[in-house]
Amino acid sequence: MVNIPAIDDLFEHRLTYPDVDIRERLARLVGLDDHKTRLTKILSLLINPSGLEVWAKKYHPSAGELVNTFLRRPPLVVLAGDVGSGKTELAETIGDAVAQQEKIDITLFPLSLSTRGQGRVGEMTQLLSAAFDRTISEASKLKGTCGRSCGAVILLVDEADALAQSREAAQMHHEDRAGVNAFIRGIDRLANRSLPVAVIMCTKSP
Ligand SMILES: Nc1ncnc2c1ncn2[C@@H]1O[C@H](COP(=O)(O)OP(=O)(O)OP(=O)(O)O)[C@@H](O)[C@H]1O
Ligand SMILES: [Mg+2]
Repeated sequence: MVNIPAIDDLFEHRLTYPDVDIRERLARLVGLDDHKTRLTKILSLLINPSGLEVWAKKYHPSAGELVNTFLRRPPLVVLAGDVGSGKTELAETIGDAVAQQEKIDITLFPLSLSTRGQGRVGEMTQLLSAAFDRTISEASKLKGTCGRSCGAVILLVDEADALAQSREAAQMHHEDRAGVNAFIRGIDRLANRSLPVAVIMCTKSP
């Protein structure tokens, strides 16, 4: 891993949970209780799978294969919905609920694709690769000596519609697929390393 951009250049507004102010922001989101519950459960399992392993050993000792399949699934959650439906707000605040439930510290690395890059060929790809590199190196520091996760990272890829909408029409086709490929490759890299990381992607298209 050569020349990964500094963490402050990639993720300016990192958030850490638990945090009382963020807890209030999450509570202010109305009508999303089901989403909050499901998202908390999914993120908890992705970020701290030791809970599932302990449970499975106790109650389903012969289901190791199944548990492994589950633990190796891509650590990705997609929030899709209309403009202003609370995707960004939910993604930025749900980490507090997960941190409380799992009793670990969590850091959010937020990356908004709409505000970044001019759509030049390769730019989105580089940005995404750098974001995944940085996420992997930070999460690797957390993996480890404690039996459970010592801490965890949530990578938020917001405004991900930009992945499929490069601004230069002439170059669109190429950059279009390159960005998506870089994203999928990043998710695969996280999955193969079993790091305490989950990725939330927000998009307007279903
Ligand atoms: N269910 C909700 N309850 C209370 N406030 C909400 C709810 N949904 C959205 N809001 C508020 O509306 C504003 C816009 O929400 P947010 O930015 O999360 O939308 P979004 O889904 O990310 O939209 P976009 O697709 O444009 O990015 C925020 O201030 C947010 O707090
Ligand atoms: Mg948003």
